[in-house]
Amino acid sequence: MKFENVIWNEDCLNGVDKIPDNSIDLLLADPPYCLGKDYGNNSDKMDADEYLEWSYKWIDAFIPKIKDTGSFYIFLSWQFSPEIFSHIKKKMVMVNEIIWDRRVPSMGGSVRKFSSVHDNIGFFTKSKKNYYFDLDPIRIPYDEETKKARTRSIFVGKKWLEVGYNPKDIWSVARIHAQDPERQDHPTQKPLEVINRIILSSSPKNGIVCDPFMGTGTTAISALANNRKYCGFELNKDYYNNIILRIKEHSKTKDLFT
Ligand SMILES: C[S@@+](CC[C@H](N)C(=O)[O-])C[C@H]1O[C@@H](n2cnc3c(N)ncnc32)[C@H](O)[C@@H]1O
Repeated sequence: MKFENVIWNEDCLNGVDKIPDNSIDLLLADPPYCLGKDYGNNSDKMDADEYLEWSYKWIDAFIPKIKDTGSFYIFLSWQFSPEIFSHIKKKMVMVNEIIWDRRVPSMGGSVRKFSSVHDNIGFFTKSKKNYYFDLDPIRIPYDEETKKARTRSIFVGKKWLEVGYNPKDIWSVARIHAQDPERQDHPTQKPLEVINRIILSSSPKNGIVCDPFMGTGTTAISALANNRKYCGFELNKDYYNNIILRIKEHSKTKDLFT
């Protein structure tokens, strides 16, 4: 069965075996966080025990699909990341926890606790050493001022000064606001900037990226724009139809904000 550049409109747990074992370079998953969001289904409305049981089930079903050199990135919130990271650590090597600072503007916020403005992204690999990772496409260039400040002889000719620095594990990237040109009709669309960074560093050109929870199809658009293949699932028929439209439009125009 063809599985490259395909999205299925079905429950990822029912469809997972359409994907052969050891075939995926990058599993990029942004599941419901169990925060009660309305995705037009009940997927974000489980109680805590049910949510953890369901999470372990889909994670265990998808891990065998990853190649030995492959990686798994999972988006979570602080409420359940400790349990879910611990579960994955029994099966894979944890390389990083990335904090995505959504750059939520200050507008009063909670008065009984600190306002929560970050997502927790776990980065896992199958192998301790032999996994694909390319820092160069995601380096952040130094501005001219910083470059000038590094003129001491010990810095002269340093590759990192020319090619830019490692983005580190705290990513400060604004969430998609209502007027954003990227914006689709979905409550938790992720910015292309975040997804591009993951795909560019953790999958080779022509590699295959699998997203079990496509939402608006950010992963598919990023994969196409960066010369990778995609596959994945989306349960909601309207979201699924929109992904297919978005992909068609992108293929015609190469516009990232279709
Ligand atoms: C957090 S959103 C993903 C957002 C996506 N990363 C984006 O940038 O647009 C989770 C999505 O998973 C879908 N979903 C929930 N349970 C699912 C399941 N069992 N199989 C497939 N999709 C599911 C929801 O309908 C929702 O669109």
